[in-house]
Amino acid sequence: MGRDVFYITSPIYYPNDVPHIGHAYNAVAVDFIARYRRLRGERVFHLTGTDEHGLKLQRAAEAAAMHPQRWVDEMEPKWREVWARLDIGYDDYIRTTEPRHEAAVTKLLDAVYENGRDDIYLGTYEGLYCVACEAYYTEDDLREGGLCPIHDRPVEHVTEENYFFRLSAYADRLLAHYEANPSAVEPATRRNEVLSTIKAGLRDFSISRTTFDWGVPLPWDAKHICYVWFDALTNYLTAAGYADDPQRFAEVWPADVHLIGKDIIRFHAIYWPAMLMAAGVEPPTQVWAHGFLTVGGKKMSKTNATGIHPFELIDRFGTDSYRWYFMREIRFGEDGSFSLESMTDRHNADLANGLGNLASRVLAMLASYTGGVVPEPAEGAADDLPEVTDRAIRRYDEHMLAAELQQALGAVWSIVDRANGYLVEREPWKLAKDPARRDELAGVLYACAETLRILAIAIQPIMPGAAERLWEQLGVAEPLASQRVPSSTAWGGTRPGTVVTKGGALFPRVDAD
Ligand code: MSP
Repeated sequence: MGRDVFYITSPIYYPNDVPHIGHAYNAVAVDFIARYRRLRGERVFHLTGTDEHGLKLQRAAEAAAMHPQRWVDEMEPKWREVWARLDIGYDDYIRTTEPRHEAAVTKLLDAVYENGRDDIYLGTYEGLYCVACEAYYTEDDLREGGLCPIHDRPVEHVTEENYFFRLSAYADRLLAHYEANPSAVEPATRRNEVLSTIKAGLRDFSISRTTFDWGVPLPWDAKHICYVWFDALTNYLTAAGYADDPQRFAEVWPADVHLIGKDIIRFHAIYWPAMLMAAGVEPPTQVWAHGFLTVGGKKMSKTNATGIHPFELIDRFGTDSYRWYFMREIRFGEDGSFSLESMTDRHNADLANGLGNLASRVLAMLASYTGGVVPEPAEGAADDLPEVTDRAIRRYDEHMLAAELQQALGAVWSIVDRANGYLVEREPWKLAKDPARRDELAGVLYACAETLRILAIAIQPIMPGAAERLWEQLGVAEPLASQRVPSSTAWGGTRPGTVVTKGGALFPRVDAD
């Protein structure tokens, strides 16, 4: 745990291109967790940003006949624009071209260079490099035909004088660290992968290049430009105040979770903790690596029209439904396949027919049977709804703390399902016709309004916009932002006499065409 703050990070994305739904999958997951922690009353620091140095960026800029700085200045807003529409509520956004970041990289490099153990040394690198990964490879790592194992693209031969980081000296310390902290890499498949990579033997890696200049110069030898991964990983320290705010750094560091995709686990779970150990800085508490999103089972790419921009889906389904679909559909940690059909099905079944229909029926009944005023509760009328909601909220919490995001949402939806079943059993539309059963009707409507109130709070982290709209329709006096789990979700929080209003549909149906 950061000392006083729950510090969660996304990777910083490469702005050599615009975001696709794979990047957004990562961003939504980070935001969902961050918002949930806030709902629990924790102080949260959610960091994201763009990774703006390196050869890949320089080449993208060259191809567009632009200076790299101009290129990143034009591209970076295209990322923020997507995060804004997806309600990604980050607390800080870092660009690696900012002076505050260069200061942190310089400080970290110096700390390692001067640690007295010769952890950085000059050597000659001769080998292979994939520009798309910004990573070094050996022949053994490559796919048939000499292709990069991640990008299926040819790698480049490099012979260059480089500074190296003595990663090989850290194998034992890394193993001891992971031994002592069993949840430092999650899920278990990734942890095992990391452990076997370390046990197979670690090679020193190059931390500087001399053949291009788009990056941070090494403080002791300015001909050398810092390797982009060494530069990029340091962003997590920069934003915590490593170079300029020791007091804040003490509060915020170590990061609680670096939430990344599985393709960059080696950098986060091997290079990064070793770099920090070498600099005398505590490693992050946890690296959590999720799976990869495919489109109709295929890897996303521009060339086969699978590189989908998030706006294409947000325009059709809305922000809340977008966030809901990806987190509810895919088991977090595993790969998942996107399809328009499954997204449409989920939207209509879970949201339009599930929660949306529940809310509109309850609000319509309140409008016509009690003039839109929440009535008094009645003994026994709520049946098992108090227990069902209480149990669901507790399971929600347990799953969220374990990053079981899909199951967490399943727990919340057990409330929706039960409430819809309750309506069918209790048939308030029949009670309304019988003046002798007014109290019972009142009790049933109260229970329904109360269940909606609890649901609005529970869905806030995943669907902040829909939660806010539902909250408004429920007419609760206190702001949604002041609600906390579990204190605010305890049964009975709705005050009789509250005036509700039936607004537009929370989730209009989407046609399958
Ligand atoms: N710049 C580096 C990260 C540096 S962090 C110190 C990078 N950038 S990236 O833009 O290529 O990827 C950013 C994140 O998006 C990574 O976590 C990556 O796993 C994730 N994804 C990219 N494509 C993805 C899918 N198709 N599916 C799920 N996540 C994907 O790597």
